[in-house]
Amino acid sequence: MAGAAAAGGGWSSRTAFILAAVGAAVGLGNIWRFPTLAGENGGGAFVLVYIGFVVLLGAPLVLSEILLGRAGGEDAIGSVRNVARASGRSERWRGLGALQITSGFLILSFYCVVAGWVVNYILASGEDWFGALFAGDPFAMAFDGETQEQITGRMGALFGDPIRMIALHSAFMAITIWIVASGVTDGIEKAATWLMPAFFVLLVMVTIYGAFTGDFGRALSFMFTPDFSKLSPGVLNEALGQALFSLSLAAGGLLTYGAYVSKEVNLAPTAAMIAAADTAVAILAGLMIFPIVFAVGLDPAAGPALIFQTLPVAFSSMPAGALVGFVFFVLIFFAALTSSISLLEGPTAWVIDAFGLKRPSAAILVGLTAWLIGVACALGYSVWSDVRLLGFWDIFANTDILDTIDGFTGKIMLPLAALLVAVFVGWRADRQLVERETGLSGGAFVLWRFLVAWLCPIAVSVVLLFGLFPNLLG
Ligand code: PHE
Repeated sequence: MAGAAAAGGGWSSRTAFILAAVGAAVGLGNIWRFPTLAGENGGGAFVLVYIGFVVLLGAPLVLSEILLGRAGGEDAIGSVRNVARASGRSERWRGLGALQITSGFLILSFYCVVAGWVVNYILASGEDWFGALFAGDPFAMAFDGETQEQITGRMGALFGDPIRMIALHSAFMAITIWIVASGVTDGIEKAATWLMPAFFVLLVMVTIYGAFTGDFGRALSFMFTPDFSKLSPGVLNEALGQALFSLSLAAGGLLTYGAYVSKEVNLAPTAAMIAAADTAVAILAGLMIFPIVFAVGLDPAAGPALIFQTLPVAFSSMPAGALVGFVFFVLIFFAALTSSISLLEGPTAWVIDAFGLKRPSAAILVGLTAWLIGVACALGYSVWSDVRLLGFWDIFANTDILDTIDGFTGKIMLPLAALLVAVFVGWRADRQLVERETGLSGGAFVLWRFLVAWLCPIAVSVVLLFGLFPNLLG
């Protein structure tokens, strides 16, 4: 089969695949989006619903997507087509792959913009810490001598400076393109094997720091004491979209990565590990961020500004805040990069397979196109701040360009594609092929198939419907 793997190699081991897939899953979604949403939606109740979605829907779908990729052996579109063909089904199912690749492409376009903000804060906090270091005070608090307004003002200054925002976003995209262009084994795998372990070490370090210097008890009760009055259909939709987004489901990445896995790998435990690791990181990120936020009496419901404004303010009155702030943004950068790579790899593999382009040309072509949309997202904070892409739709009436693409992909496209995956794998793909690929048997297979074929389609449809049409409940 002339798959994309041929154009870039495959994973050299199971560990390499796990690192790459966990790298794809762990990203801004875990450290920026998850704590933000938990903070906005009252903490515990959201966390509980989120974990429920991951266990019952997310993990079974991770297995479904990886097995589709491995069985199909090509890019996301080609793989689904191959499995449909082998199962005697209509090849139109490949539209499922197309929907995923489109979602991944759109997510990539705004993801790199947000990652550019992270780079901005690496530069600012790096300058701050190195300044302190050279002044002989490596354990200084962050942004010493600045007022709270000056610190939070950095975000507004960045948003008001489209040139700077675009420059940082371009730099991040360039690194992403470079790694994907280098191949699966020599680029993606190598990046994940270096960045993921470094990320974990830094994450654990900052969490321990937060536990000792911050208000860990309050963070624990905030994250694990559910207040069910905070739950609404909109929150459920948000939690489902977040579970899919965080696990890198329904956006072409896992399907594509699955095609590079060798036949010897036992997929079920591997999928479980990926889902568990991603969820553990999201929870740890909450336990890293909220103690620090509470320590200085700040608001956990700050929205997207949580890590860019609230945390820098917190670091400015904590011991060694300059150093920890710098480390914090570096660790987010590592996580974001291994995710943006997977977002670019999906459409790139398709361009390689469908048009016969060489990997570097394909990566550059896709990356540049997504970059252009990213430019529009960046301008949406200044010169195009009045633009409402889907302004006619009440749920998007007040969202800027970036938030509209984020919301549309997360709340609509991802659930839709996940629904199709569940129906395809649960009902249409050849049962024997599926069972063989999962490596499951007996009760475990029956349970997994029940979750994929019954629970996923029903739960996802219900959540999608009520999320989109909140008025249905009257
Ligand atoms: N899962 C990534 C994150 O949490 C984002 C992502 C979505 C990556 C879809 C690939 C595919 O940041």
